Amino acid sequence: MRGYQTPGLLSVWRGGATIFMRAILKAYGVTDRLVWVADSFEGLPAPNPTKYPEDAKWNLHLVDVLAVSLDEVMSNFERYGLLDERVRFLKGWFRDTLPHAPIEKLAVLRLDGDLYESTMDALVNLYPKLSIGGYAIVDDWTLDSCRQAIDDFRNQNGITDEIVPIDRSAVYWQRTR
Ligand SMILES: C[S@@+](CC[C@H](N)C(=O)[O-])C[C@H]1O[C@@H](n2cnc3c(N)ncnc32)[C@H](O)[C@@H]1O
Repeated sequence: MRGYQTPGLLSVWRGGATIFMRAILKAYGVTDRLVWVADSFEGLPAPNPTKYPEDAKWNLHLVDVLAVSLDEVMSNFERYGLLDERVRFLKGWFRDTLPHAPIEKLAVLRLDGDLYESTMDALVNLYPKLSIGGYAIVDDWTLDSCRQAIDDFRNQNGITDEIVPIDRSAVYWQRTR
């Protein structure tokens, strides 16, 4: 993975996967990469069925357990001794934060936003920054809203890289061009 700049995770919840990313960098003594942690830190957005009919049936914005504050996520990093300047937080809705995110290049783009809107906003704004040879990981492949966004984005951009299953819900592909 040399030559790629940063792993980034969109949709963080309590922070577990991002804490793991930071821990891997520390374990391997990597000091020239950042971990980007992007989330509203207040749960999912209400569906916008006019713009995203695929999300119309979801009411995930009402699920309190998915709303974890930035303070709580930071304190979870701290508990593992992994909260430092190599972890950067982007707080807000993806539609607002990602178009102007100061991210240059990504090695790993991990998505877990459940909705069509969240998945598409992440891909449109960040996939162009994913290095050739980098990895896109999608946690919610089995949710039809998320899967539709992945299918649409891949079709619109001529992406044919093989989709590889990870477990019963997640998949990844390696960007080859
Ligand atoms: C299912 S949880 C993620 C679980 C986490 N990746 C894990 O493996 O433990 C979904 C997360 O995405 C965030 N989220 C979803 N859509 C978002 C959006 N459009 N903008 C900002 N945050 C969003 C929610 O706040 C929540 O933290």
